[in-house]
Amino acid sequence: MKRIFVVFALAFLTLGNLSVLNVKAEGETYDVGVAIYQYNDNFMTLFRNELETYFKELGEADGNTYNVEFQDGKNDQATQTEQLNNFIAQGKDILIANLVDPTGADQIILNAMNADIPVVLINREPDVSTLELWPGKTTYVGVDARQSGVFQGEIIAELENKGDINGDGVVNYITIMGDAGNVDAEQRTKYSVETLSETIKAESLGEPQRGNWDQAKGQEIAANAISQYGEQVEVIFSNNDGMALGAVQAIKGAGRTINEDIYIVGVDALPEVVDLLENNEFTGTVLNDHYNQARTAADIAVKLLNGEEVSPYYWHDYIKVSKPEDAELERTEYREESIEDYQKRIKDTYGE
Ligand code: GAL
Repeated sequence: MKRIFVVFALAFLTLGNLSVLNVKAEGETYDVGVAIYQYNDNFMTLFRNELETYFKELGEADGNTYNVEFQDGKNDQATQTEQLNNFIAQGKDILIANLVDPTGADQIILNAMNADIPVVLINREPDVSTLELWPGKTTYVGVDARQSGVFQGEIIAELENKGDINGDGVVNYITIMGDAGNVDAEQRTKYSVETLSETIKAESLGEPQRGNWDQAKGQEIAANAISQYGEQVEVIFSNNDGMALGAVQAIKGAGRTINEDIYIVGVDALPEVVDLLENNEFTGTVLNDHYNQARTAADIAVKLLNGEEVSPYYWHDYIKVSKPEDAELERTEYREESIEDYQKRIKDTYGE
C-alpha cells in the first residue's frame, strides 16, 4: 500500500539565526501487479522483461519504489482470474493485465474498480465496452493489429514477382494463425490477404490453421501444408514470428529455399528472425514494438498512480521490417485516442 516515508532532519533554532528545516522525501512505494497471459511466449517475454527493466529505471529516476510482481496465467483464464483477484485482495496499487481472454475481462475490471485499483490492459485489445466500464481508470496500451496485417500484405506485394513464384498470375498461400478469438490473429489474417489482393489475385490453399503462437505447431502446420500442396505453396503468412520459425524448419526440411521458391512473412521481429533476414533466409516481418508498448504502459501506470485520469487508448505503430535495420528500437511518442475517435478512425480507414 501507499506508504510515505518522510524523514525530518533535526530542526535547529538558535538565537538570531534562521531556522533550518531539512525535509528529505524518500519517495513512495507502489505495488504493481502484472498478469501475463503466458510466460511461454517469445514476444510476451520480451515485453515482460522490458516492463521489469523500465520500472527499475523509473524508480531510479523518480525516487519511488515500484515493487513489481509478475504472474504467469499459463494460458488459462481461470488461473489468471484467481491471480488478479489475489492482486486485488493484496491491495496492489495498480494492475497491468495481458488477459488470456479479453472478452471475459469485465468482471475483473469491476472487481478492480470496487477496490479502486486502476487497470492498464496490454497486448490483447479489449472490446470498447470493457474500456467504458471505468472510464479514466481503465486503459489499453497497444498497437493496432490491422496495421500489422496490412504491412505483411505489403511486404509480399512489394516483391518483384508480388509473391507469384510460378508466374501463373495467382499467389497461392497458407496462413498460420494465433489463438481463436484473438484480435491480433483475426486482423492479421484478414488484412494481410486483403492488402496483397489489392495488387494481385491471392488464393488460400485450405483454411487458415491455428498454431496458437507456438513454434512447434507452426512447424507441424507448415510441414503438413507443404506435403499436401507441394510447390503450389508460394507464400506463408504467419500471424507471428514464433510460428514462422517453426515453418522455416519445415520449409528447410522439405528441401525448399526461402526467397527462391517460397516466401514467408511473420510479425514481432524477434531477434532470431532478424538474424534470418540478415542472411536472406526470411522474407519479412513486422516489428511489434514491445519496447515502446512496455514503456508507455509503465508511464501510463505512473499517471494513474499519481491519481490522474487517463485516455481509453494509447497507441504505438507497427513497423514494416524487410531488413535488420528496420527493427531497431527507439523511444517514440504514443498517440492518445478517445473511444469516439477510435471508432471513427476504424470506420474511415478500414470500413469496419
Ligand atoms: C501478439 C504477438 C504474438 C503473441 C500474442 C500473444 O501480439 O504477435 O507473438 O505474443 O501477441 O497474445
